[in-house]
Amino acid sequence: MAKKSEEAHKGREQWKTRIGLVLAMAANAIGIGNFLRFPVQCASHGGGAFMIPYFIAFLLLGIPLMWVEWAIGRFGGRHGHGTTPGMFHYLWKHPLAKYLGAIGIFLPLGILIYYNYIVSWTLAYSVFSLTGKYFAVPNHAGMVDFLAAFQGKVANAYFGDYTTALIFLFITIALLTWVLSRGVVQGIEALATWGVPVTFIIGFLLIWRIATLGTPDPAFPERSVINGLGFMWNPNFKALADSKVWLAATGQIFFTLSVGFGCIQTYASYVKAKDDIVLSGLSTVATNEFSEVIIGGFIAIPVTVAFFGIMETQRIAESGAFDLGFCAMPLIFQRLPAGQIFGTLWFFLLFIAGLLSSIALAQPLMAFLQDELKVSRRNAALITGGLATFLAIPVVVFLKHGFLDEMDFWLGTFGVVGFSIIELILFVWIFGSEKAWKEILLGADIKIPRFFFFAIKYVTPAYLSLLLFFWFFQDGLKIMFMRGVASENFPYIWFARFLMTALFLVIIVLVRIAWQRHRRTAHHKVSS
Ligand code: TRP
Repeated sequence: MAKKSEEAHKGREQWKTRIGLVLAMAANAIGIGNFLRFPVQCASHGGGAFMIPYFIAFLLLGIPLMWVEWAIGRFGGRHGHGTTPGMFHYLWKHPLAKYLGAIGIFLPLGILIYYNYIVSWTLAYSVFSLTGKYFAVPNHAGMVDFLAAFQGKVANAYFGDYTTALIFLFITIALLTWVLSRGVVQGIEALATWGVPVTFIIGFLLIWRIATLGTPDPAFPERSVINGLGFMWNPNFKALADSKVWLAATGQIFFTLSVGFGCIQTYASYVKAKDDIVLSGLSTVATNEFSEVIIGGFIAIPVTVAFFGIMETQRIAESGAFDLGFCAMPLIFQRLPAGQIFGTLWFFLLFIAGLLSSIALAQPLMAFLQDELKVSRRNAALITGGLATFLAIPVVVFLKHGFLDEMDFWLGTFGVVGFSIIELILFVWIFGSEKAWKEILLGADIKIPRFFFFAIKYVTPAYLSLLLFFWFFQDGLKIMFMRGVASENFPYIWFARFLMTALFLVIIVLVRIAWQRHRRTAHHKVSS
Protein backbone atom coordinates (compact mmCIF):
# COMPACT_ATOMS: atom_id res chain seq x y z
CA MET A 1 0.00 0.00 0.00
CA ALA A 2 2.74 2.41 1.02
CA LYS A 3 4.68 1.38 -2.05
CA LYS A 4 1.74 2.02 -4.31
CA SER A 5 1.06 5.52 -3.03
CA GLU A 6 4.73 6.33 -3.26
CA GLU A 7 4.67 5.27 -6.86
CA ALA A 8 1.61 7.36 -7.57
CA HIS A 9 3.44 10.33 -6.09
CA LYS A 10 6.43 9.91 -8.35
CA GLY A 11 7.08 12.93 -10.50
CA ARG A 12 4.47 15.09 -8.77
CA GLU A 13 5.73 18.22 -7.12
CA GLN A 14 5.00 19.16 -3.49
CA TRP A 15 4.94 22.56 -1.81
CA LYS A 16 8.32 23.26 -0.32
CA THR A 17 7.36 25.04 2.91
CA ARG A 18 4.21 25.48 4.90
CA ILE A 19 4.32 29.24 4.70
CA GLY A 20 4.80 28.90 0.95
CA LEU A 21 1.70 26.71 0.76
CA VAL A 22 -0.39 29.16 2.78
CA LEU A 23 0.79 32.10 0.69
CA ALA A 24 0.18 30.24 -2.58
CA MET A 25 -3.35 29.35 -1.47
CA ALA A 26 -3.93 32.90 -0.24
CA ALA A 27 -2.68 34.20 -3.57
CA ASN A 28 -5.17 31.89 -5.25
CA ALA A 29 -7.99 33.55 -3.34
CA ILE A 30 -6.79 37.15 -3.20
CA GLY A 31 -7.68 38.75 -6.50
CA ILE A 32 -9.37 41.65 -8.16
CA GLY A 33 -12.52 40.56 -6.33
CA ASN A 34 -11.04 41.60 -2.98
CA PHE A 35 -10.31 45.18 -3.95
CA LEU A 36 -13.08 46.06 -6.41
CA ARG A 37 -15.91 43.55 -6.28
CA PHE A 38 -16.16 43.41 -2.49
CA PRO A 39 -16.37 47.16 -1.83
CA VAL A 40 -19.02 47.58 -4.53
CA GLN A 41 -21.08 44.66 -3.25
CA CYS A 42 -20.82 45.79 0.35
CA ALA A 43 -21.55 49.47 -0.25
CA SER A 44 -24.54 48.78 -2.49
CA HIS A 45 -26.08 46.06 -0.32
CA GLY A 46 -26.59 47.65 3.06
CA GLY A 47 -23.04 48.71 4.02
CA GLY A 48 -22.07 47.27 7.40
CA ALA A 49 -25.27 45.20 7.45
CA PHE A 50 -23.94 43.29 4.42
CA MET A 51 -21.36 41.79 6.74
CA ILE A 52 -24.06 39.78 8.53
CA PRO A 53 -25.10 37.56 5.58
CA TYR A 54 -21.48 37.70 4.45
CA PHE A 55 -20.17 36.17 7.67
CA ILE A 56 -23.00 33.65 7.86
CA ALA A 57 -22.10 32.50 4.35
CA PHE A 58 -18.44 32.48 5.34
CA LEU A 59 -19.12 30.19 8.32
CA LEU A 60 -21.74 27.86 6.86
CA LEU A 61 -20.51 27.71 3.33
CA GLY A 62 -17.07 29.17 2.82
CA ILE A 63 -15.16 27.41 5.58
CA PRO A 64 -16.83 23.99 5.12
CA LEU A 65 -16.32 24.03 1.35
CA MET A 66 -12.75 25.17 1.78
CA TRP A 67 -11.95 22.19 4.05
CA VAL A 68 -13.80 19.81 1.74
CA GLU A 69 -11.83 21.01 -1.27
CA TRP A 70 -8.48 20.83 0.52
CA ALA A 71 -9.33 17.31 1.66
CA ILE A 72 -10.44 16.14 -1.78
CA GLY A 73 -7.30 17.69 -3.26
CA ARG A 74 -4.82 16.13 -0.85
CA PHE A 75 -6.62 12.80 -1.21
CA GLY A 76 -6.34 13.00 -5.00
CA GLY A 77 -2.68 13.95 -4.84
CA ARG A 78 -2.00 10.87 -2.74
CA HIS A 79 -3.33 8.81 -5.64
CA GLY A 80 -1.34 10.77 -8.19
CA HIS A 81 -4.19 12.96 -9.48
CA GLY A 82 -4.18 16.74 -9.43
CA THR A 83 -7.59 17.38 -10.97
CA THR A 84 -11.16 16.46 -10.13
CA PRO A 85 -11.69 13.71 -12.77
CA GLY A 86 -9.07 11.59 -11.00
CA MET A 87 -10.22 12.66 -7.54
CA PHE A 88 -13.89 11.93 -8.18
CA HIS A 89 -12.92 8.58 -9.68
CA TYR A 90 -11.58 7.53 -6.28
CA LEU A 91 -14.53 8.99 -4.36
CA TRP A 92 -17.17 7.24 -6.45
CA LYS A 93 -16.43 4.02 -8.27
CA HIS A 94 -18.68 4.78 -11.18
CA PRO A 95 -17.76 5.48 -14.82
CA LEU A 96 -19.63 8.80 -14.65
CA ALA A 97 -17.52 10.18 -11.81
CA LYS A 98 -14.60 11.23 -13.99
CA TYR A 99 -16.90 13.09 -16.38
CA LEU A 100 -18.45 15.02 -13.51
CA GLY A 101 -14.89 15.82 -12.54
CA ALA A 102 -14.32 17.27 -16.01
CA ILE A 103 -16.32 20.28 -14.81
CA GLY A 104 -13.43 21.08 -12.44
CA ILE A 105 -11.14 21.64 -15.41
CA PHE A 106 -13.73 23.27 -17.63
CA LEU A 107 -14.80 25.99 -15.16
CA PRO A 108 -11.34 27.36 -14.36
CA LEU A 109 -10.22 27.20 -17.99
CA GLY A 110 -13.37 28.99 -19.15
CA ILE A 111 -12.96 31.65 -16.48
CA LEU A 112 -9.24 32.01 -17.18
CA ILE A 113 -10.07 33.08 -20.73
CA TYR A 114 -11.75 36.28 -19.60
CA TYR A 115 -10.15 36.79 -16.18
CA ASN A 116 -6.76 37.17 -17.88
CA TYR A 117 -8.15 39.96 -19.99
CA ILE A 118 -9.32 41.90 -16.94
CA VAL A 119 -5.95 41.31 -15.28
CA SER A 120 -4.25 42.75 -18.36
CA TRP A 121 -6.28 45.98 -18.00
CA THR A 122 -4.76 46.51 -14.56
CA LEU A 123 -1.25 46.15 -16.00
CA ALA A 124 -2.15 48.61 -18.75
CA TYR A 125 -3.54 51.13 -16.27
CA SER A 126 -0.48 50.77 -14.08
CA VAL A 127 1.63 51.78 -17.07
CA PHE A 128 -0.84 54.55 -18.01
CA SER A 129 -0.51 55.92 -14.47
CA LEU A 130 3.26 55.91 -14.69
CA THR A 131 3.28 57.67 -18.05
CA GLY A 132 0.38 59.99 -17.13
CA LYS A 133 -1.65 58.88 -20.13
CA TYR A 134 -5.07 59.47 -18.54
CA PHE A 135 -4.08 62.53 -16.53
CA ALA A 136 -5.54 64.97 -19.05
CA VAL A 137 -8.91 63.21 -19.28
CA PRO A 138 -11.29 65.92 -18.00
CA ASN A 139 -14.10 64.13 -16.14
CA HIS A 140 -15.96 60.92 -15.40
CA ALA A 141 -17.63 60.78 -18.81
CA GLY A 142 -14.17 61.22 -20.34
CA MET A 143 -12.82 58.30 -18.31
CA VAL A 144 -15.69 56.11 -19.46
CA ASP A 145 -14.78 57.01 -23.06
CA PHE A 146 -11.11 56.36 -22.37
CA LEU A 147 -11.85 52.88 -21.03
CA ALA A 148 -14.32 52.09 -23.82
CA ALA A 149 -11.78 53.10 -26.47
CA PHE A 150 -9.03 51.11 -24.77
CA GLN A 151 -11.33 48.08 -24.87
CA GLY A 152 -12.11 48.73 -28.53
CA LYS A 153 -15.81 49.40 -27.93
CA VAL A 154 -15.54 52.82 -29.57
CA ALA A 155 -12.80 54.70 -31.41
CA ASN A 156 -11.74 58.18 -30.28
CA ALA A 157 -8.72 60.39 -29.74
CA TYR A 158 -7.47 58.16 -26.88
CA PHE A 159 -7.38 54.84 -28.74
CA GLY A 160 -8.32 53.91 -32.30
CA ASP A 161 -8.94 50.20 -31.56
CA TYR A 162 -8.04 47.40 -29.17
CA THR A 163 -4.43 47.00 -30.33
CA THR A 164 -3.04 48.39 -27.06
CA ALA A 165 -5.35 46.13 -25.06
CA LEU A 166 -4.19 43.11 -27.07
CA ILE A 167 -0.54 43.95 -26.43
CA PHE A 168 -1.11 44.03 -22.67
CA LEU A 169 -3.12 40.82 -22.87
CA PHE A 170 -0.25 39.08 -24.65
CA ILE A 171 2.25 40.35 -22.09
CA THR A 172 0.01 39.04 -19.28
CA ILE A 173 -0.39 35.63 -20.91
CA ALA A 174 3.35 35.42 -21.62
CA LEU A 175 4.11 36.06 -17.94
CA LEU A 176 1.49 33.52 -16.93
CA THR A 177 2.98 30.90 -19.25
CA TRP A 178 6.46 31.57 -17.93
CA VAL A 179 5.44 31.14 -14.28
CA LEU A 180 3.50 27.97 -15.12
CA SER A 181 6.47 26.50 -16.95
CA ARG A 182 8.64 26.94 -13.85
CA GLY A 183 6.33 24.67 -11.91
CA VAL A 184 4.62 24.61 -8.56
CA VAL A 185 7.59 25.35 -6.30
CA GLN A 186 9.85 27.52 -8.44
CA GLY A 187 7.00 29.26 -10.21
CA ILE A 188 3.85 29.52 -8.12
CA GLU A 189 5.26 29.23 -4.60
CA ALA A 190 8.14 31.58 -5.38
CA LEU A 191 5.92 34.24 -6.93
CA ALA A 192 3.31 34.02 -4.14
CA THR A 193 5.98 34.27 -1.46
CA TRP A 194 6.85 37.79 -2.49
CA GLY A 195 3.62 38.70 -4.32
CA VAL A 196 1.28 38.43 -1.33
CA PRO A 197 3.44 40.53 1.02
CA VAL A 198 3.83 43.11 -1.76
CA THR A 199 0.06 43.45 -2.12
CA PHE A 200 -0.22 43.97 1.63
CA ILE A 201 2.54 46.60 1.69
CA ILE A 202 1.04 48.53 -1.21
CA GLY A 203 -2.39 48.20 0.40
CA PHE A 204 -1.16 49.72 3.65
CA LEU A 205 0.60 52.53 1.81
CA LEU A 206 -2.64 53.40 0.05
CA ILE A 207 -4.65 53.23 3.27
CA TRP A 208 -2.16 55.54 4.92
CA ARG A 209 -2.41 58.00 2.01
CA ILE A 210 -6.21 57.94 2.19
CA ALA A 211 -6.46 58.11 5.99
CA THR A 212 -4.37 61.29 6.04
CA LEU A 213 -6.39 63.02 3.34
CA GLY A 214 -9.07 64.55 5.57
CA THR A 215 -11.29 66.76 3.43
CA PRO A 216 -9.58 67.18 0.06
CA ASP A 217 -11.79 70.03 -1.13
CA PRO A 218 -12.61 72.61 1.59
CA ALA A 219 -15.52 73.87 -0.52
CA PHE A 220 -17.26 70.53 0.16
CA PRO A 221 -16.76 69.77 3.85
CA GLU A 222 -19.10 66.78 3.71
CA ARG A 223 -16.78 65.07 1.24
CA SER A 224 -14.35 63.56 3.72
CA VAL A 225 -12.66 60.26 4.38
CA ILE A 226 -14.70 59.89 7.57
CA ASN A 227 -17.95 60.21 5.63
CA GLY A 228 -16.53 57.79 3.10
CA LEU A 229 -15.95 55.22 5.81
CA GLY A 230 -19.46 55.92 7.09
CA PHE A 231 -20.91 55.37 3.64
CA MET A 232 -19.05 52.09 3.31
CA TRP A 233 -19.67 50.73 6.78
CA ASN A 234 -22.78 52.29 8.42
CA PRO A 235 -25.22 49.41 8.62
CA ASN A 236 -28.60 49.65 6.95
CA PHE A 237 -30.39 46.77 8.64
CA LYS A 238 -33.46 47.13 6.42
CA ALA A 239 -31.37 45.64 3.62
CA LEU A 240 -31.41 42.30 5.43
CA ALA A 241 -35.06 41.79 4.46
CA ASP A 242 -34.07 41.73 0.79
CA SER A 243 -33.17 38.30 -0.61
CA LYS A 244 -30.93 39.99 -3.18
CA VAL A 245 -28.60 41.08 -0.39
CA TRP A 246 -28.25 37.49 0.83
CA LEU A 247 -27.57 36.22 -2.67
CA ALA A 248 -24.98 38.93 -3.24
CA ALA A 249 -23.20 38.15 0.03
CA THR A 250 -23.14 34.43 -0.68
CA GLY A 251 -21.93 35.01 -4.22
CA GLN A 252 -19.12 37.19 -2.94
CA ILE A 253 -17.98 34.48 -0.52
CA PHE A 254 -17.75 31.98 -3.37
CA PHE A 255 -15.93 34.40 -5.58
CA THR A 256 -13.44 35.64 -3.06
CA LEU A 257 -12.53 32.27 -1.55
CA SER A 258 -12.28 30.72 -5.03
CA VAL A 259 -14.34 27.73 -3.85
CA GLY A 260 -16.38 25.71 -6.32
CA PHE A 261 -13.98 26.16 -9.22
CA GLY A 262 -11.68 23.15 -9.03
CA CYS A 263 -8.62 25.30 -8.32
CA ILE A 264 -8.22 24.71 -4.57
CA GLN A 265 -8.33 20.95 -5.16
CA THR A 266 -5.46 21.21 -7.63
CA TYR A 267 -3.30 23.30 -5.30
CA ALA A 268 -4.12 20.96 -2.40
CA SER A 269 -3.01 17.96 -4.45
CA TYR A 270 0.56 19.21 -3.97
CA VAL A 271 0.25 18.98 -0.17
CA LYS A 272 2.21 16.09 1.37
CA ALA A 273 0.07 13.04 2.09
CA LYS A 274 -0.19 13.48 5.86
CA ASP A 275 0.35 17.21 6.28
CA ASP A 276 -2.23 19.28 8.10
CA ILE A 277 -4.87 20.98 6.00
CA VAL A 278 -7.21 22.20 8.73
CA LEU A 279 -4.99 24.93 10.12
CA SER A 280 -3.32 25.77 6.80
CA GLY A 281 -6.73 26.12 5.18
CA LEU A 282 -8.00 28.32 7.95
CA SER A 283 -4.90 30.51 7.71
CA THR A 284 -5.41 31.08 4.01
CA VAL A 285 -9.06 32.08 4.33
CA ALA A 286 -8.14 34.37 7.23
CA THR A 287 -5.45 36.01 5.08
CA ASN A 288 -7.95 36.44 2.28
CA GLU A 289 -10.58 37.95 4.56
CA PHE A 290 -8.09 40.38 6.02
CA SER A 291 -7.08 41.56 2.59
CA GLU A 292 -10.70 41.81 1.48
CA VAL A 293 -12.41 43.44 4.45
CA ILE A 294 -9.59 45.59 5.76
CA ILE A 295 -7.59 46.51 2.68
CA GLY A 296 -10.41 46.18 0.13
CA GLY A 297 -12.88 47.88 2.46
CA PHE A 298 -10.76 50.93 3.23
CA ILE A 299 -9.50 52.03 -0.16
CA ALA A 300 -11.70 52.43 -3.22
CA ILE A 301 -15.10 53.44 -1.78
CA PRO A 302 -13.95 55.75 1.06
CA VAL A 303 -11.60 57.66 -1.22
CA THR A 304 -14.27 58.02 -3.90
CA VAL A 305 -16.63 59.60 -1.37
CA ALA A 306 -13.84 61.93 -0.20
CA PHE A 307 -13.37 63.26 -3.71
CA PHE A 308 -16.79 63.03 -5.30
CA GLY A 309 -19.34 62.86 -2.50
CA ILE A 310 -21.90 60.27 -1.59
CA MET A 311 -24.37 60.79 -4.43
CA GLU A 312 -21.74 60.32 -7.11
CA THR A 313 -20.19 57.32 -5.33
CA GLN A 314 -23.59 55.67 -5.16
CA ARG A 315 -23.98 56.09 -8.89
CA ILE A 316 -20.51 54.70 -9.53
CA ALA A 317 -21.09 51.70 -7.27
CA GLU A 318 -24.32 50.97 -9.10
CA SER A 319 -22.48 50.84 -12.41
CA GLY A 320 -20.19 48.21 -11.00
CA ALA A 321 -16.69 47.27 -10.03
CA PHE A 322 -15.09 48.26 -13.33
CA ASP A 323 -16.47 51.77 -13.20
CA LEU A 324 -15.07 52.16 -9.69
CA GLY A 325 -11.68 50.68 -10.55
CA PHE A 326 -11.02 52.00 -14.03
CA CYS A 327 -13.00 55.27 -14.18
CA ALA A 328 -13.37 56.69 -10.66
CA MET A 329 -9.96 55.71 -9.32
CA PRO A 330 -7.99 57.25 -12.23
CA LEU A 331 -9.83 60.56 -11.67
CA ILE A 332 -8.81 60.39 -8.03
CA PHE A 333 -5.15 59.84 -8.89
CA GLN A 334 -5.28 63.01 -11.00
CA ARG A 335 -6.21 64.95 -7.87
CA LEU A 336 -4.16 63.07 -5.27
CA PRO A 337 -0.72 64.45 -4.34
CA ALA A 338 1.87 62.13 -5.96
CA GLY A 339 -1.08 60.56 -7.77
CA GLN A 340 1.01 59.17 -10.61
CA ILE A 341 2.97 57.06 -8.15
CA PHE A 342 -0.05 55.98 -6.12
CA GLY A 343 -1.94 55.17 -9.32
CA THR A 344 0.92 53.02 -10.57
CA LEU A 345 1.03 51.24 -7.22
CA TRP A 346 -2.73 50.70 -6.99
CA PHE A 347 -2.98 49.11 -10.42
CA PHE A 348 0.19 47.13 -9.81
CA LEU A 349 -1.38 45.75 -6.63
CA LEU A 350 -4.40 44.68 -8.67
CA PHE A 351 -2.11 43.19 -11.30
CA ILE A 352 -0.07 41.05 -8.90
CA ALA A 353 -3.20 39.84 -7.12
CA GLY A 354 -4.91 39.16 -10.44
CA LEU A 355 -1.96 37.40 -12.07
CA LEU A 356 -1.62 35.05 -9.11
CA SER A 357 -5.32 34.22 -9.42
CA SER A 358 -4.91 33.61 -13.17
CA ILE A 359 -2.16 31.16 -12.36
CA ALA A 360 -4.49 29.32 -10.00
CA LEU A 361 -7.12 29.20 -12.74
CA ALA A 362 -4.62 27.77 -15.22
CA GLN A 363 -3.09 25.13 -12.95
CA PRO A 364 -5.93 22.56 -13.21
CA LEU A 365 -5.38 22.26 -16.96
CA MET A 366 -1.62 22.08 -16.35
CA ALA A 367 -2.08 19.31 -13.79
CA PHE A 368 -4.46 17.40 -16.03
CA LEU A 369 -2.06 17.49 -18.97
CA GLN A 370 0.86 16.40 -16.79
CA ASP A 371 -0.82 13.81 -14.55
CA GLU A 372 -3.28 12.21 -16.92
CA LEU A 373 -1.80 12.72 -20.38
CA LYS A 374 1.89 12.66 -19.37
CA VAL A 375 2.66 15.90 -21.19
CA SER A 376 5.90 17.55 -20.01
CA ARG A 377 5.57 20.64 -17.82
CA ARG A 378 7.04 22.90 -20.44
CA ASN A 379 4.71 21.67 -23.15
CA ALA A 380 1.75 21.82 -20.79
CA ALA A 381 2.55 25.48 -20.13
CA LEU A 382 2.82 26.19 -23.85
CA ILE A 383 -0.50 24.46 -24.54
CA THR A 384 -2.21 26.34 -21.69
CA GLY A 385 -0.78 29.70 -22.76
CA GLY A 386 -1.66 29.03 -26.39
CA LEU A 387 -5.24 28.10 -25.56
CA ALA A 388 -5.62 31.10 -23.26
CA THR A 389 -4.46 33.37 -26.09
CA PHE A 390 -6.52 31.80 -28.84
CA LEU A 391 -9.74 31.58 -26.85
CA ALA A 392 -9.40 35.11 -25.49
CA ILE A 393 -9.73 36.59 -28.96
CA PRO A 394 -13.55 36.44 -29.11
CA VAL A 395 -13.69 37.89 -25.58
CA VAL A 396 -11.65 40.88 -26.73
CA VAL A 397 -13.33 41.37 -30.08
CA PHE A 398 -16.94 40.81 -28.91
CA LEU A 399 -16.67 42.53 -25.53
CA LYS A 400 -19.25 45.17 -26.42
CA HIS A 401 -21.79 42.48 -27.32
CA GLY A 402 -21.87 41.04 -23.81
CA PHE A 403 -19.64 38.04 -24.52
CA LEU A 404 -17.73 38.28 -21.24
CA ASP A 405 -20.85 38.74 -19.12
CA GLU A 406 -22.50 35.71 -20.65
CA MET A 407 -19.49 33.52 -19.85
CA ASP A 408 -19.25 34.97 -16.37
CA PHE A 409 -22.82 34.13 -15.51
CA TRP A 410 -22.74 30.48 -16.59
CA LEU A 411 -19.27 29.69 -15.32
CA GLY A 412 -18.61 32.11 -12.47
CA THR A 413 -22.09 32.16 -10.92
CA PHE A 414 -24.17 29.19 -11.94
CA GLY A 415 -21.34 26.75 -12.60
CA VAL A 416 -19.56 27.11 -9.28
CA VAL A 417 -22.67 26.62 -7.17
CA GLY A 418 -23.64 23.56 -9.21
CA PHE A 419 -20.14 22.12 -9.02
CA SER A 420 -19.98 22.65 -5.24
CA ILE A 421 -23.19 20.69 -4.81
CA ILE A 422 -21.78 17.85 -6.92
CA GLU A 423 -18.51 17.62 -5.00
CA LEU A 424 -20.27 17.76 -1.64
CA ILE A 425 -22.64 14.96 -2.58
CA LEU A 426 -19.77 12.82 -3.84
CA PHE A 427 -17.57 13.43 -0.81
CA VAL A 428 -20.07 13.42 2.02
CA TRP A 429 -22.89 11.24 0.76
CA ILE A 430 -21.26 8.76 -1.62
CA PHE A 431 -17.73 8.47 -0.26
CA GLY A 432 -19.32 8.62 3.21
CA SER A 433 -19.54 11.33 5.84
CA GLU A 434 -17.43 9.57 8.50
CA LYS A 435 -14.69 8.77 5.98
CA ALA A 436 -14.84 12.30 4.68
CA TRP A 437 -14.56 13.74 8.18
CA LYS A 438 -11.56 11.51 8.90
CA GLU A 439 -9.95 12.58 5.66
CA ILE A 440 -10.28 16.25 6.66
CA LEU A 441 -8.90 15.61 10.15
CA LEU A 442 -5.94 13.50 8.96
CA GLY A 443 -2.77 15.11 10.31
CA ALA A 444 -4.70 18.14 11.60
CA ASP A 445 -2.86 20.56 13.87
CA ILE A 446 -6.03 21.87 15.50
CA LYS A 447 -9.40 20.40 16.42
CA ILE A 448 -12.55 21.34 14.56
CA PRO A 449 -15.86 21.65 16.44
CA ARG A 450 -18.17 18.75 15.61
CA PHE A 451 -20.63 21.41 14.47
CA PHE A 452 -18.81 21.52 11.16
CA PHE A 453 -19.50 17.85 10.59
CA PHE A 454 -23.21 18.58 10.57
CA ALA A 455 -22.68 21.72 8.56
CA ILE A 456 -20.85 19.82 5.85
CA LYS A 457 -23.34 16.99 5.85
CA TYR A 458 -26.63 18.88 5.95
CA VAL A 459 -26.45 22.64 6.23
CA THR A 460 -24.02 23.44 3.42
CA PRO A 461 -25.70 21.25 0.77
CA ALA A 462 -29.15 22.56 1.74
CA TYR A 463 -27.92 26.15 1.70
CA LEU A 464 -26.36 25.64 -1.74
CA SER A 465 -29.45 24.01 -3.21
CA LEU A 466 -31.58 26.87 -1.97
CA LEU A 467 -29.14 29.33 -3.47
CA LEU A 468 -29.18 27.61 -6.85
CA PHE A 469 -32.97 27.58 -6.81
CA PHE A 470 -33.24 31.29 -6.01
CA TRP A 471 -30.62 32.23 -8.53
CA PHE A 472 -32.28 30.23 -11.21
CA PHE A 473 -35.57 32.04 -10.79
CA GLN A 474 -34.18 35.47 -10.07
CA ASP A 475 -31.46 35.73 -12.73
CA GLY A 476 -31.09 32.39 -14.49
CA LEU A 477 -34.32 32.43 -16.47
CA LYS A 478 -33.81 36.04 -17.46
CA ILE A 479 -30.34 35.32 -18.76
CA MET A 480 -31.24 32.02 -20.34
CA PHE A 481 -33.94 33.62 -22.47
CA MET A 482 -31.83 36.75 -23.01
CA ARG A 483 -34.52 39.07 -21.68
CA GLY A 484 -33.47 42.68 -21.97
CA VAL A 485 -30.65 41.87 -24.40
CA ALA A 486 -30.55 43.91 -27.61
CA SER A 487 -31.43 41.57 -30.46
CA GLU A 488 -28.30 42.46 -32.44
CA ASN A 489 -26.30 40.82 -29.63
CA PHE A 490 -28.12 37.47 -29.87
CA PRO A 491 -25.63 35.88 -32.30
CA TYR A 492 -22.69 36.77 -30.04
CA ILE A 493 -24.40 35.36 -26.96
CA TRP A 494 -25.13 32.16 -28.85
CA PHE A 495 -21.53 32.03 -29.96
CA ALA A 496 -20.39 32.32 -26.34
CA ARG A 497 -22.66 29.41 -25.45
CA PHE A 498 -21.43 27.38 -28.37
CA LEU A 499 -17.82 28.01 -27.40
CA MET A 500 -18.42 26.97 -23.79
CA THR A 501 -20.23 23.80 -24.88
CA ALA A 502 -17.46 22.93 -27.34
CA LEU A 503 -14.80 23.48 -24.71
CA PHE A 504 -16.61 21.22 -22.27
CA LEU A 505 -17.00 18.48 -24.88
CA VAL A 506 -13.30 18.65 -25.75
CA ILE A 507 -12.41 18.18 -22.09
CA ILE A 508 -14.82 15.25 -21.81
CA VAL A 509 -13.13 13.61 -24.79
CA LEU A 510 -9.67 14.21 -23.29
CA VAL A 511 -10.78 12.63 -20.01
CA ARG A 512 -12.04 9.63 -21.96
CA ILE A 513 -8.76 9.30 -23.84
CA ALA A 514 -6.79 9.57 -20.59
CA TRP A 515 -8.81 6.82 -18.92
CA GLN A 516 -8.49 4.52 -21.92
CA ARG A 517 -4.74 4.96 -21.66
CA HIS A 518 -4.77 4.34 -17.91
CA ARG A 519 -6.60 1.10 -18.53
CA ARG A 520 -4.10 0.04 -21.15
CA THR A 521 -1.06 0.74 -18.94
CA ALA A 522 -2.70 -0.96 -15.97
CA HIS A 523 -3.36 -3.94 -18.19
CA HIS A 524 0.28 -3.96 -19.31
CA LYS A 525 1.51 -3.96 -15.75
CA VAL A 526 -0.70 -6.88 -14.82
CA SER A 527 0.24 -8.99 -17.82
CA SER A 528 3.96 -8.27 -17.76
N1 TRP B 1 -10.91 34.85 -5.78
C1 TRP B 1 -10.53 35.66 -6.90
C2 TRP B 1 -10.78 37.12 -6.60
O1 TRP B 1 -11.16 37.47 -5.52
C3 TRP B 1 -11.25 35.32 -8.16
C4 TRP B 1 -11.46 33.90 -8.39
C5 TRP B 1 -12.63 33.29 -8.42
C6 TRP B 1 -10.49 32.91 -8.58
N2 TRP B 1 -12.46 31.98 -8.63
C7 TRP B 1 -11.17 31.69 -8.73
C8 TRP B 1 -9.13 32.92 -8.64
C9 TRP B 1 -10.51 30.52 -8.90
C10 TRP B 1 -8.45 31.75 -8.80
C11 TRP B 1 -9.12 30.55 -8.92
O2 TRP B 1 -10.59 37.94 -7.46
